[in-house]
Amino acid sequence: MATGAQSRGGGPLAQLLILAVLHVNFIALGLEPDFLYPLENVTIAQGRDAMFTCVVNNLGGYRVSGDSATARVAWIKADTKAILAIHEHVITNNARLSVTHNDYNTWTLNIRGVKREDRGQYMCQVNTDPMKMQTAFLEVVIPPDIIYEETSGDMMVPEGGSAKLVCKARGYPPPKILWRREDGGDIISRSGPQGKTKVTSLEGEIVNLTKVTRSEMGAYLCIAANGVPPSVSKRIMLHVHFHPLVQVPNQLVGAPTGTDVTLQCHVEASPKAINYWTRENGEMIITNDKYHMTEITSSTYSVQMRLVIRNIQRSDLGGYKCISKNSIGDAEGNIRLYEMELPYRKSRTEEESDAASEESNDVRSSLQGPLREGGNRVEDAGFLGGGGPSSSDSHRIIPCGFFLITALVHTVC
Ligand SMILES: *[C@@H]1O[C@H](CO)[C@@H](O)[C@H](O)[C@H]1NC(C)=O
Ligand SMILES: *[C@@H]1O[C@H](CO)[C@@H](O)[C@H](O)[C@H]1NC(C)=O
Repeated sequence: MATGAQSRGGGPLAQLLILAVLHVNFIALGLEPDFLYPLENVTIAQGRDAMFTCVVNNLGGYRVSGDSATARVAWIKADTKAILAIHEHVITNNARLSVTHNDYNTWTLNIRGVKREDRGQYMCQVNTDPMKMQTAFLEVVIPPDIIYEETSGDMMVPEGGSAKLVCKARGYPPPKILWRREDGGDIISRSGPQGKTKVTSLEGEIVNLTKVTRSEMGAYLCIAANGVPPSVSKRIMLHVHFHPLVQVPNQLVGAPTGTDVTLQCHVEASPKAINYWTRENGEMIITNDKYHMTEITSSTYSVQMRLVIRNIQRSDLGGYKCISKNSIGDAEGNIRLYEMELPYRKSRTEEESDAASEESNDVRSSLQGPLREGGNRVEDAGFLGGGGPSSSDSHRIIPCGFFLITALVHTVC
């Protein structure tokens, strides 16, 4: 390789001579090789292809002293001083490198499938005397990647206990770790210097949760980012276990007989509980024509239990229990249903609920459809004499029935 330094051979006299020749050359051709643009820094993700472009004008006209050839463009890795290529010839033993020459003045160093060790300073050099060069930096970045072996999996803690969530990631530059809750809720940090703090996001590899409460249960996301896309995240479930808790909004529920009533209990439990209803005597309630049970989930650990009792009879009055059982324990709530006397005659809603409850009756089932309303009721109450679960209501129904008959007759006539 004919660098500027190498061409400066001989004694002081020879050097003078060379300088004179150079001067002549310069004067004769008028122009010296020069870079048209600065070499630009390149930042590239590992595995991608990188290139540096060096544009040298007036290269062909310049003759290196003591050398018959024209000046040449060389690529050098500055940190190792390794010569990578001269003109289009790759010198270094690296199959991923190549040089392309086009537009007569443009030399491009291509690095295929960039590796981390390729990072460093690259030099485009022309062997004029003194030599000319320009340098640029190749930065190889690596997108973040979660180190699963060092990152927490799903966790289970008893309420009041501690949980240490760890998330580690590799990449270059070193990724930052950000924690968020999937539901957007607060992360409660008690390990900071200012005591308990609530934040929607937290930075750092470790989240130290202490005196964990049920409200801290849920999915935690650790997000690793270093400015190199794509960012990555891991979802860690934190399960907080506790004894079931039953809350009863209305412990005394009054309703007139013949109506439907809904009893409610709020249950909090984790792990998930089995919830059911019993009568006061412990008899388990099952869904049938009389009872309808539903559960509405309001959060990961809370459920609203509802029991609908249809067409209340005297025998339905009394105590009810809502019971919640999980692997940690059980809890119950008590509700008392009492009869509420209405100071007025049957209301419209009661009529409807009666009609609804009577649909279970065998006689009724054949009389559905357009014959509903008053007409059917007359048959039931008046001619069939009630019967079935609503028999105790029959005296009250009869006057209404007559009333309805009158109404019906009116319409028919
Ligand atoms: C190129 O990168 C080097 C090393 O990181 C830096 O010192 C220099 O300022 C950068 N040059 C330009 C033009 O950005
Ligand atoms: C987490 O908090 C506990 C209790 O305050 C403390 O003993 C422990 O050193 C903390 N760990 C980290 C990593 O902050």
